[in-house]
This record gives sequence, structure tokens and C-alpha cells, in this order.
Amino acid sequence: MSVVLCSRNAHKARELEGLLPGWSIATLDADDYPPEDGDTYYENALLKARFGHERAGGWTLGDDSGIEVAALGGRPGVHSARYAPEGPPAVAKLLRELEGVDDRRARYVCELVAISPDGEEIRGTGIAAGTISDAPRGEGGFGYDPVFVPDGENSTVGELGDGWKNEHSHRARAARALREALERRRLLGA
Ligand code: IMP
Repeated sequence: MSVVLCSRNAHKARELEGLLPGWSIATLDADDYPPEDGDTYYENALLKARFGHERAGGWTLGDDSGIEVAALGGRPGVHSARYAPEGPPAVAKLLRELEGVDDRRARYVCELVAISPDGEEIRGTGIAAGTISDAPRGEGGFGYDPVFVPDGENSTVGELGDGWKNEHSHRARAARALREALERRRLLGA
């Protein structure tokens, strides 16, 4: 099945292809992407999927994700991508905000929205709960992965790496939920 992902991020398209077997996912080439100014991940995923559907027709996919930290009242949440420059600066800012804080609970959230060629909208949500470590560990993944320790693990996602993410990440869970929703509605074509 050919699907257009409304993102400029080719890495995300490859990651989602691994999570959605049988899907051939291409990114949408457009220079006028709508701003991601929704109040929720779902709104952002939906507006991207709808934008792609208007442009490309066929099957389209939109996604949005972020990290929510309990002691920060759920921040950075839907604004995660704008919290600080991606990578070490964002990790350092988060650790600074949590200095001396005992409650380290956090969760990653991902929303995926698929739109069928007929315009049916199908949603998949994925959550991965964990805690924020005291210092970064590991080279795998990206963003906050070096400081995110999933519940049930002693290692950070940076240490656990892509093999772990492909099975257990918020995106993997959202992709599974989306697939199940498509199967329930008998929308999965060849
Ligand atoms: P977006 O879904 O591409 O808009 O990403 C939102 C932001 O959430 C990213 O820029 C990261 O800061 C964070 N994020 C989302 N998923 C992950 C992940 O799997 N690992 C680390 N950070 C993530």
C-alpha cells in the first residue's frame, strides 16, 4: 500500500515503514506546510494528514509526538519540538529544570492519523511511560532518549536503542493501534 506521510522527515518515514509492514511510505514534498499550532497532538496529526490528503489524495498519514514530564505539569508536551534546540541542549534544559526534583515521572505520547482515499479518518494513539534519569546515557535514538528510562527497564532508551524502540516506543504503540483500527474497519488494502 502506498502512503504519503505529511512530514519532511525521511527518517520518520523509514521508521514508520518498519512499524507498518507492507506500507510504502513517501514524504510529502511541499514548501507550505501548515503551522503545527494545535492544542493537542491529535489536532496536529490530523491537520497534517488533511493537508497531505488535499495535496496528494490517496492514503495519507500525519503524526505528532512529544514528552510530558509530571513535575513540570506535563510540559513540554505538545510544544516539545520547540522546547529547546533538539539534542543535547534540550536534554540539558530538562535536567536543569528537574534538578533536586524527586518526582521524575514522564511519558512519551504519539498520535497517528491515517486518511483513506475516500476521506475516512482513522486514529492510533501510543504512550510509553517512564522516568527521567539524572544524567544522559547511551547514543541510540534521538531527542530525550538518553535521559528517558522506560518503566520496567534500568537503561535509558539511548542505551536500549532502535531494536527496543521498534517494539515498545510510543510510535510503535501508536502504529499498532492504528493498524488494529484499520483492520477492525476492514480498511487495509493490499
Ligand atoms: P514531532 O512529532 O516530530 O513534532 O516531535 C516532537 C518532539 O518530541 C521531538 O522534537 C522530540 O523533542 C520529542 N520526541 C518525540 N518522539 C521522540 C522520541 O522517540 N525520542 C525522543 N524525543 C522524541
